[in-house]
Amino acid sequence: MEPNVRLMETYLARESVFKQKWVEFLQRRDLRITSERYYPLLTPLEGSSLFADTTPQERLLAYKTNIEFISSMQIFLEKTLVQAFYFYRPKEEHLDPLIKRSMRLVAREELYHTLAYEHFLSQQDGPTSFMQNRLFRFLSGLSLKINPLAFTLIGAKFEAFSMTHMEDLKSSNMDPQDPWFVLNQMHMEDEAYHVPLQFDIYNASVKQYGFLRTFAAMAIMFVLFQFVLISGMRKVVNVAYANRSFWRRHFILLPATIRWSSRKMQALRKARVMMKRYMKIKKPRYQRLLRFLYT
Ligand SMILES: [Fe+2]
Ligand SMILES: [Fe+2]
Repeated sequence: MEPNVRLMETYLARESVFKQKWVEFLQRRDLRITSERYYPLLTPLEGSSLFADTTPQERLLAYKTNIEFISSMQIFLEKTLVQAFYFYRPKEEHLDPLIKRSMRLVAREELYHTLAYEHFLSQQDGPTSFMQNRLFRFLSGLSLKINPLAFTLIGAKFEAFSMTHMEDLKSSNMDPQDPWFVLNQMHMEDEAYHVPLQFDIYNASVKQYGFLRTFAAMAIMFVLFQFVLISGMRKVVNVAYANRSFWRRHFILLPATIRWSSRKMQALRKARVMMKRYMKIKKPRYQRLLRFLYT
């Protein structure tokens, strides 16, 4: 499937202006979440029988820590994407100039997103070390070495999630001045372009690596994200339900983690639908494998 040239040209026209909004955001010192209200859609376990047993303070803390976890995950993903493009540079010679320029712009935008989420996170109370883990670094490094751009479609799924997460914030009637709302709104404006572009970048580069290397790199990333979810949710549960017994916390951890991989979470379910739609339009190579991993 040919890339959408018009979309790419519209996207590239933003090259000189995208930066300003992030420069302004990075100067803000008022990003701490002060909300005394938790938003059920953004709180782990919402809707389950375990949730009914939690106190309002625990829910508020679970909501805030969950946001910190999502921020950390965004930072991790965006950094990995920037690294992926960097590792790919020696091989990008043959690429269509429009795709090459778009790729560079995606990388620059992700760099600013990383800074913005780090800036946001630095003003919150919770643990900021969700992703500081040697195993994560090892696995992502290994995957990028095998096929750096196998990561693009995983990135696309999380980019789709960034957009559907924003829909959740809107449907929760979150205050548009809320720092989390502001950050996600700004992020979404960039990410809306990224999802189709990641498919084009994938299609343009995947032939260079072949099935085995693509499969191996994706499988490693897939395993990595299961670890990321388990360890991230463990931290969320340990902070929010610190007063509960060890066993009780583990009893909460399991369904909180499974929720990320099940179809219950609204934003993820919608992200899957979006990925399926793009799979149909863009017809990426090895579609069967991709469908299994991402939809
Ligand atoms: Fe991003
Ligand atoms: Fe992105």
